[in-house]
Order: sequence, then C-alpha cells, then structure tokens
Amino acid sequence: MSFKEYKFSYKEVDDVNLLPSEDASLLDQARKATQQAYAPYSKFFVGAAALLDNGQTISATNQENASFPAGLCAERVLLSAAASLYSNNKIKTIAISYDNKNGESNRPVSPCGICRQSLLEYEGRIEQPVRLLLSGLTGKIIIIESASLLLPLSFSAKDM
Ligand code: THU
Repeated sequence: MSFKEYKFSYKEVDDVNLLPSEDASLLDQARKATQQAYAPYSKFFVGAAALLDNGQTISATNQENASFPAGLCAERVLLSAAASLYSNNKIKTIAISYDNKNGESNRPVSPCGICRQSLLEYEGRIEQPVRLLLSGLTGKIIIIESASLLLPLSFSAKDM
C-alpha cells in the first residue's frame, strides 16, 4: 500500500488595496455584481466577474428558480456567457464575491462542487489555467492560480 498526498498552495491578501490594480478592479466588479443576483429564495447574492485575454470584463450572477434544482450559480452563468459571447477569447481571471443577506459577507467562500467541475472543463477547453479571486464584500481575498487545484482526483475528458 502507498499513501499519496494532495497539497496545493494559495495566496491570501488582507485587503483589496493590496491587490494589483487589475485584480482589484475585477473584484470590485464582482462585488458590485452581487446586487444584480436573482436570489429570492436563499438571499445569498453571488457575483462573478471575468477578465478576458483581450482585456474586456464581463460579470454574472446566480439565478435561482422556484424549482430549486433549476437554479444556476454565478460561476456557471459566467462561464456560459463567456463561452457563448466571446468564443474567441479566453478567461484569464475570475473574481467571485457574495452578499449574504441573512448574515455576514466578510470572508471568502469558494465555488461549489458542480462549479469546480465546470471550471475544470473550461480550463481544459482553453488549455490554460483560470485564476480565481475569492472574497466577500469586505475582508480577505484568496488567490488561487488555477481553478483545477480545487478539484483533486478529478474526472475530465482525459479519462474518457
Ligand atoms: N451559489 C453560487 O452562485 N455560487 C457558488 O459557488 C455557491 C452557491 C449560489 C447558488 C444559490 O443560488 C445560492 O448561492 C445559495 O446556495
């Protein structure tokens, strides 16, 4: 028997002012986008913003549904929009923020499992890593250099 270990490193920054300006403005866009979310059921307003390789940015939000499983996370709305509207461009960085109307919004949260799988697929599709900036409306920011780092022992096209 052999024991394997999965480790990954990420950066943590105390405040948006300590980020490079390109990252700071992307996070600001994600934080602002939270207010456009359609989240009448959970009251958990998520905003995501993507920086494309042509310098353009786009943002997206979670879209809930009275039939709960039909709802979509902000990350997957963003990936679908980017792939549909800017099929010739690649996402370099995604900032994700949230406004929890039922509680605090001052610490980073990370993408759910389905979104991790979708991010992995997108990275495979563009054949390059997508950086993630995770933060609440205020407080620390986590920086992850490739979304796939969040999904160890993942299943992807390579396995088929
Ligand atoms: N949500 C996202 O948009 N992104 C995530 O990574 C986690 C959860 C949404 C889904 C649902 O509308 C609400 O947040 C509460 O789960």
